[in-house]
Amino acid sequence: MKQFLLAILAFSNAGCSAFEFQTPITEAQRTISQPLLGFGTWNLKVSPENTSAAVSIAIQTGYRQIDCAAAYRNEPAVGAGIADGLKKANLTRNQIWVTSKLWNDHHGDSTTVQAGLDQTLSDLGLEYLDLYLMHWPVSSVPNNHEEYISTWASMLTLPKSKVRHVGICNFSPTQLKTLITSTREKPYAHQMELHPYLQQSSWIKFHKQLGISVSAYSPLGNNNPIYHNGEEKDYPPALLENKILVKIAEKRNCTAAQVALAWGMSRGTSVILKSKHEEYIQENFNAAECTLKKSDLKKIEEVGEKWLKRYNNPSGAWKVDLFEGLDGV
Ligand SMILES: NC(=O)c1ccc[n+]([C@@H]2O[C@H](COP(=O)([O-])OP(=O)(O)OC[C@H]3O[C@@H](n4cnc5c(N)ncnc54)[C@H](OP(=O)(O)O)[C@@H]3O)[C@@H](O)[C@H]2O)c1
Ligand SMILES: *[C@@H]1O[C@H](CO)[C@@H](O)[C@H](O)[C@H]1NC(C)=O
Ligand SMILES: *[C@@H]1O[C@H](CO)[C@@H](O)[C@H](O)[C@H]1NC(C)=O
Ligand SMILES: *[C@@H]1O[C@H](CO)[C@@H](O)[C@H](O)[C@H]1NC(C)=O
Repeated sequence: MKQFLLAILAFSNAGCSAFEFQTPITEAQRTISQPLLGFGTWNLKVSPENTSAAVSIAIQTGYRQIDCAAAYRNEPAVGAGIADGLKKANLTRNQIWVTSKLWNDHHGDSTTVQAGLDQTLSDLGLEYLDLYLMHWPVSSVPNNHEEYISTWASMLTLPKSKVRHVGICNFSPTQLKTLITSTREKPYAHQMELHPYLQQSSWIKFHKQLGISVSAYSPLGNNNPIYHNGEEKDYPPALLENKILVKIAEKRNCTAAQVALAWGMSRGTSVILKSKHEEYIQENFNAAECTLKKSDLKKIEEVGEKWLKRYNNPSGAWKVDLFEGLDGV
């Protein structure tokens, strides 16, 4: 691990040059850096109108990062929400950060990857993404199997005018190392499951040392109803009802959700949360004002020593070994 780190650090500073400025971009096209709070759009699908309304409300509330994916099958409605939100908040495109993800059915050569990107851009109604992530290190064509090297190489050839940064989700340490050593290009960001029940602190530290930014998905833990799949025996209590978090929340005049999000931001990770309800969208946004003390952070660290649970792991369903060497597998 250490030797690998040194080798990577040796070229990491120059690492982005090959991908930077392939197509000249004007000052007006330049974007903001990735905000610490992001609005997620998975399962935001009561109806297209409802999805658009939630995204628009999020932007009007103050969120400046929207997290999308082709796999969520709602990018046209999300795009309509982005357009409406920008208009109502009197903002321009380059004042928000939009992320989307390449689905497993578009892995492979650059023609295939470009087609995935072009579909997403057309669905979202956008000219460019701030960040394009490989959703999984898995191709579904013709059958599910581990694949990421050629796809990553293809992602690196995407024009800068359409994609500002490229990154990954859901990689294992071995996969991340293999990716970097074989292409000599590190991802800009790695999005992964992170919450008080799955803290992965040394894994985050490893990214910090490499200069890869980390985004936390499902930051409210087992609050996502999809994660309740009937096998609740060794389940930790609902994160937002966890006694430690509730107590900290009372003490700091926050809600438990705000405590979980503030803790995530205090670790330097960008927290990507989702809600279809206006009051939660507002509540979660206000997490930025929930100030935690060192003693609170220590107590939340202990929550992670007591409970360890990874909720999002399709290894079984896909018959592919994911997250090898990481916690909660
Ligand atoms: N890269 C990946 O593989 C990957 C995987 C998973 C997720 N993600 C991204 O991360 C985003 C967030 O993850 P997630 O959707 O799994 O989980 P989450 O944001 O941690 O939790 C969402 C759930 O919490 C509820 N909720 C939100 N705020 C609340 C509050 N203040 N109080 C009480 N309940 C609240 C929501 O309910 P309502 O919606 O009913 O209000 C929803 O059921 C996704 O939308 C997606 O963009 C990416
Ligand atoms: C979306 O629909 C749900 C369920 O009907 C509703 O509770 C929620 O308020 C709606 N959200 C928005 C932003 O309209
Ligand atoms: C919208 O933003 C522009 C540029 O920041 C500003 O000049 C204009 O006054 C704003 N319009 C409204 C209605 O707030
Ligand atoms: C607690 O938070 C609420 C809502 O954010 C706020 O209105 C109230 O003034 C706060 N109370 C204290 C004592 O800080």
